[in-house]
Amino acid sequence: MTGSGVTSTVAATPEADTDPRTLLDRALAREPTTRRPLWINRQAGRYLPEYRKLREQHSFKELAGSADLAAEVTLQPIRRFPLDAAIIFADIMSPLPALGIDFDFAPGPVVAEPIRSAADVAALPDADVAEPAPEVIEAIGLVRRELPEDTALLGFCGAPWTLAAYLVEGRGIKDFPLLRAFAAAEPQALERLLARLSRLMADYLIRQGQAGADAVQIFDSWAGLLPRAAWQRLVRPHLESMLVTVGDAGIKRILFVNNAPHLVEAYAELPAEALAVDWRIDLRALQDRHGHRRAVQGNLDPAILTAGPEPTRTAANTLLNQVHARGHIVNLGHGLLPNTPVESVAALVETVRREEH
Ligand code: CP3
Repeated sequence: MTGSGVTSTVAATPEADTDPRTLLDRALAREPTTRRPLWINRQAGRYLPEYRKLREQHSFKELAGSADLAAEVTLQPIRRFPLDAAIIFADIMSPLPALGIDFDFAPGPVVAEPIRSAADVAALPDADVAEPAPEVIEAIGLVRRELPEDTALLGFCGAPWTLAAYLVEGRGIKDFPLLRAFAAAEPQALERLLARLSRLMADYLIRQGQAGADAVQIFDSWAGLLPRAAWQRLVRPHLESMLVTVGDAGIKRILFVNNAPHLVEAYAELPAEALAVDWRIDLRALQDRHGHRRAVQGNLDPAILTAGPEPTRTAANTLLNQVHARGHIVNLGHGLLPNTPVESVAALVETVRREEH
């Protein structure tokens, strides 16, 4: 392609300079911006020396469980790099104690008593009594007060299916066979579990918005485990109802679909302001098909950043040249890897910000 279409979409408008909204807000609305916003999945965490230092004194559960520490970790990457959004430091498991779920991290989530039967699902508390992750809601308030005004704050949650994956399987293992067996043997129980998670996550995301999050990202990290027909029948209705409830509350939604090439078109039909995809997906082709009504987010391969600043710059420039600026939020196609040099993150930030004019 020629670069001409790309440049014409980033033309600055006089209004853009006085617009109090963040770049992320405007990109979510698919309005022209002076440059594309950038934030990075897992931008806080183990690749940062200042995070590793805190981890010498506190377990991950302690860091995520304390509003003060979580706020501090959320702000660490923002102090180091001029990113356009902070994402609250928590885990997709954080709201699950509200359902009486006990878990640990080793290093991924390990559930003490996995949900393996209709009776296990029926035993989950049904009344919406418990407040999901009050420490996360408090941390959002703390970060909001510290964050520069032009930096957006993102909340997040796991999609019902991805949470169910950990709850049924008990931990993250390849292809989640117990989960797929449960979906075949107990489809009604699975649906009841998904419905319960969908309600809890909608409530949780709305609370995050009310506490000061500008938008929320829904991580469907294990989206791709079922074939399309089973996904449509069992999973989609519960994901959709969560998205509708959150959207009706006025909260902007970034829907991340990971490792599910056979479902990307179906995800593009779901109600969300932006669709985020992993690095396997051709982002420009996705934008050509859906960019008139969805912002797109992504999608550099996180492994490229582990190769150093030069490959990072090259890959970032290729992405910027291929994808139209309007309605594009730059990010990786999945989380930063722990062995990423901070210099690669700096190179990515610099490359994206150079586009400004
Ligand atoms: O970007 C940020 O700063 C937000 C932090 C964040 C964490 N988990 C912190 C974390 C986010 C957005 C998550 C989401 C999450 N957690 C997902 C969805 C995104 C994805 O990666 O697909 C999933 C599947 C989980 C479950 C989970 N938690 C796993 C698989 C692991 C271990 C492996 C890993 O990537 O570290 C965790 C633990 C976890 N969550 C850590 C962090 C920083 C590592 C804790 C540590 O040892 O310091």
